[in-house]
Amino acid sequence: MARQSSDWQRHSPSPKTTDTEIETCAFCHARRTTAFPDALPGQPLLDNLQVALLTEPLYHADGQIKDEVFEYGSFLQSKMYHSGVTCSDCHQPHSLKLRAEGNGLCAQCHLPDKYENKTHHLHTQGSEGSQCVNCHMPAKNYMVVDPRRNHSLRIPRPDLSLKLDTPNACNQCHADKTAAWAADILQTQFGAPKPHYGEALYAGRNGLGNAIARLAELTVDPTKPAIARATAASLLAPYLSRETAPILQMSANDPQPLIGYGLATALDQLPPAQRMPFAYPLLFDASRVTRSLAARSVAGPASQSLPAEGQARFEEALDDYQRSQQFNADRPEGLSNLATLFMQQGDIDNARRLYRLAIAQAPYYTPAYVNLADSYRQTANEGEGRKVLEDALGTVREKAPIHHALGLWYVRQKNMTEALKHLQDAAESPAATDQYLYVYGVALNSSGQTSEALRVLEDGHNRHPGNLSILYALISIHQAAGQGEAVQKYEAAVRALSGG
Ligand code: HEC
Ligand code: HEC
Ligand code: HEC
Ligand code: HEC
Ligand code: HEC
Repeated sequence: MARQSSDWQRHSPSPKTTDTEIETCAFCHARRTTAFPDALPGQPLLDNLQVALLTEPLYHADGQIKDEVFEYGSFLQSKMYHSGVTCSDCHQPHSLKLRAEGNGLCAQCHLPDKYENKTHHLHTQGSEGSQCVNCHMPAKNYMVVDPRRNHSLRIPRPDLSLKLDTPNACNQCHADKTAAWAADILQTQFGAPKPHYGEALYAGRNGLGNAIARLAELTVDPTKPAIARATAASLLAPYLSRETAPILQMSANDPQPLIGYGLATALDQLPPAQRMPFAYPLLFDASRVTRSLAARSVAGPASQSLPAEGQARFEEALDDYQRSQQFNADRPEGLSNLATLFMQQGDIDNARRLYRLAIAQAPYYTPAYVNLADSYRQTANEGEGRKVLEDALGTVREKAPIHHALGLWYVRQKNMTEALKHLQDAAESPAATDQYLYVYGVALNSSGQTSEALRVLEDGHNRHPGNLSILYALISIHQAAGQGEAVQKYEAAVRALSGG
């Protein structure tokens, strides 16, 4: 990749050959979980860190910073990064001072004739509105006093604010004006806005009708930032189908390390029996974190008939995974992950011991209760499972998953009255997922409340148009009622989703 552009001038640093410098800074300036503490300088980041992708609630759908995410994940999105610009082009690596003041920092490379004028920035020369960083690196405050400049060096996109509910630099200052106002000004000045990867990520996050096609396109588009593509791969994985399988297969073999990593983070959302074709190539990935996540996803029965070469890679990577979670065992996520691994391997006693440890350490941590209760379901020890869930209702912050699990518990006991109460609590919570709406709708239908079931499922479909289970449920309920027109409508929606 050559570090040049049409307006590239003066300072012409050597072409980017490796990411070493940026990754050195990123070791501390990235939002991440440390997987392996024994990092050596110069090792690829993904050998040691589990870097945050552009996920909720850390980033807005278009990749702008939302929570405290530091600089790396933003900078990876920028054209400047892709042209070989590094942190030290702006920051002196030792003093960390900026290399120049004000717009002079950018004028190291961008011609002032072109950008330091009202035609470009629309504001009085020298005013706040004419400062390059105020539009291209808007600041966001954390903890009230800690300003962070957005390091994705992006173009302000008020038009995306209208579509994706994202912030934009213009309205950050012009808070009394609408995004449409700013979008109109930019359209008049610069013409129609370009497509943006945020649109695909937004569709994926919200399960929109075009999600699969948009995510698939972004996942394999080498002109888009790797971190956006990796995020798309992770959002696409749960939509595994005959159409998406080849795309995911390509991701598992992509030369960009982040893409395979993105897929590896999402493999545990696939049914266990379908993970191996994607996990297998990732066992041979260059990045240790990716290999370890891939091994985790296929631990248990799936890994018992690997070819010899794969078996050795698998064992080494699984060992790495265990070490990384042991390193994080001071946090409930680490303990809970280890417990889940024990479950996959059929070691139920050790799994339960660790789930209980996670609960003792962090009584508010919902997943440990849900998983512990599920382990009792698996051994037909339903009474214990219910006790765990009832305990959880008194202590956890996020109650919706507990209500959902309790609802399913009562369904198994054939007590539909109690089941519906809990499933309703889950479905009506602000944290309701498409799955909660689907299960509540189906439960209503099977207890004879057909019209209420249709209301819930239609609401679910409107909020998550990409959810196939909801669509199939709507089709079968309407079919049973002989409502051919509705059946056709939802069948058309299914066809549109699978691109046909
Ligand atoms: C060993 C960890 C570590 C590494 C490696 C590291 N930094 Fe930092 N840096 C920090 C911490 C901690 C702070 C203070 C907290 C903050 O502002 O995020 C900081 C602050 C900064 C600041 C703000 C300084 C200020 O005056 O407010 C800049 C700029 C910065 N680092 C740039 C870099 C660059 C560029 C690199 C790579 C050449 C780098 N850092 C490597 C840990 C690190
Ligand atoms: C070391 C050189 C260098 C410096 C310093 C620099 N840039 Fe860039 N910038 C580039 C290169 C190279 C590109 C990519 C041009 C291309 O791909 O066409 C670029 C592209 C951009 C883009 C286009 C982004 C897009 O999505 O189209 C913006 C905006 C930008 N720079 C803003 C800034 C701002 C603001 C500063 C100062 C804070 C700055 N740059 C400092 C080299 C630099
Ligand atoms: C008031 C907001 C604002 C300010 C201030 C601003 N820009 Fe921009 N900049 C924009 C917008 C909007 C675009 C997109 C224009 C377009 O679509 O062609 C843009 C585009 C760019 C691009 C990409 C151009 C291309 O052809 O791809 C670069 C580089 C850039 N700006 C650099 C700068 C520099 C350097 C400064 C400071 C001297 C600056 N900008 C100040 C709003 C601003
Ligand atoms: C195009 C120039 C540019 C590049 C490249 C750049 N920064 Fe910055 N950085 C800035 C500016 C401007 C600020 C705001 C400084 C201020 O307001 O005092 C900043 C601020 C920071 C801060 C202080 C906290 C914050 O987020 O505002 C840190 C830390 C930092 N940069 C780290 C990095 C790292 C790490 C990289 C490489 C991954 C990097 N920067 C690349 C221009 C740049
Ligand atoms: C850092 C704050 C800031 C940012 C960012 C900013 N503006 Fe402004 N803008 C101002 C201020 C202050 C004025 C009034 C003084 C002036 O003209 O500079 C102004 C004036 C204007 C005006 C002319 C006066 C009016 O109200 O009709 C327009 C148009 C405008 N801005 C559009 C934009 C657009 C579009 C963007 C985003 C691309 C933007 N501004 C980004 C601060 C900002």
